[in-house]
Amino acid sequence: MKCFDVSKTDLNGKDILVTGGTGSFGRAFCRFVLDNFKPRRLIVFSRDEDKQYLMANDFGFNYTGTHNTPLRFFIGDVRDRERLEIAMRDVDCVVHAAALKHVPTAEYNPMECIRTNVNGAENVVNAAIANNVETVVALSTDKAVNPINLYGASKLAADKIFIAANNLSGRRRTRFSVVRYGNVLGSRGSVIPFFRKLQSDGADFLPITDDRMTRFWISLEQGVSFVLSCLSETHGGEIFVPKLPSMKVIDIAKGVAPEIPTKVVGIRPGEKLHEMMLSEEESRFTYDMGDRYMIVPEISFSSRLKEVAQRGTPVEEGFQYASHKNERWITSEEFKDMLCLI
Ligand SMILES: NC(=O)c1ccc[n+]([C@@H]2O[C@H](COP(=O)([O-])OP(=O)(O)OC[C@H]3O[C@@H](n4cnc5c(N)ncnc54)[C@H](OP(=O)(O)O)[C@@H]3O)[C@@H](O)[C@H]2O)c1
Repeated sequence: MKCFDVSKTDLNGKDILVTGGTGSFGRAFCRFVLDNFKPRRLIVFSRDEDKQYLMANDFGFNYTGTHNTPLRFFIGDVRDRERLEIAMRDVDCVVHAAALKHVPTAEYNPMECIRTNVNGAENVVNAAIANNVETVVALSTDKAVNPINLYGASKLAADKIFIAANNLSGRRRTRFSVVRYGNVLGSRGSVIPFFRKLQSDGADFLPITDDRMTRFWISLEQGVSFVLSCLSETHGGEIFVPKLPSMKVIDIAKGVAPEIPTKVVGIRPGEKLHEMMLSEEESRFTYDMGDRYMIVPEISFSSRLKEVAQRGTPVEEGFQYASHKNERWITSEEFKDMLCLI
């Protein structure tokens, strides 16, 4: 699976802040940025000191102040606007990855999910505008499209907050956009580490919720490169959707542990059989831009954005980008290669 083109993105000399920087995405993002650019500062913003400590060790950062790296660690909670405002001082770009992302956790703890994913989004917006940040890209998910669980609904609310924020920046320069993608292969708590754990524990079977279930898949590196490519492309108000391949969950299980039989255990609460990255309703505002789709806001914030959209092709009205109707599928050979990298 090829990474997205980041050649137009220049983060040299910039101050970048990534909320949720110790998560699967955040760590891969920091690694990629440090390997490919020379930012002035790359600030990791998250709550848990242990995760930060481990990441600092892995990245060769020490807390003595003598470190030779742009990496900085900032303990903070996105629910705490004041802390975010301090963390964003002199920052040029914010990538907002912090979230509660587990569907069952959100169902059991609805207000906790809303405080982090929705109120947190509002705090990121306000702190960015107060600090005159140039660009904010927020990570979203296919579960935000026609959501049936609170996690998806909270991310939909967050997406709306980020898109509408372009209305609030006024003469300030801050532009906000959203990146929406599907399941990240190998990310924390995802299905591949889950199947691998069962395999190493000697499980008798791998549980499959439904043998028809399909998902869109993206590697961490692709996700990172996609977000970076969007940082340079955004004019404010877009939702960027990468074109991704699909795969059945049962084929993932067979690829990870071909020796273990699978057993259908039934779909879990809040789960869909297939995911959607673009709904029929969104098709009226969606442009095919080659390697991605771009949804422009119904309420336009930027005349420049209209010009950019004209470079793409409007998708047909009624178009749906759904994981079971995808033209692109991951073959078992491709999956074998992908597994080696996870
Ligand atoms: N993984 C996927 O398959 C997938 C697919 C589509 C979209 N996404 C989106 O991508 C983003 C990143 O996902 P991920 O897989 O990297 O998640 P992850 O591994 O669970 O990481 C989440 C990060 O957010 C931080 N965090 C959580 N609550 C916070 C709070 N209240 N304040 C500050 N930091 C907080 C966590 O650190 P602390 O706990 O230390 O605070 C951690 O660094 C999320 O927005 C998710 O919705 C993920």
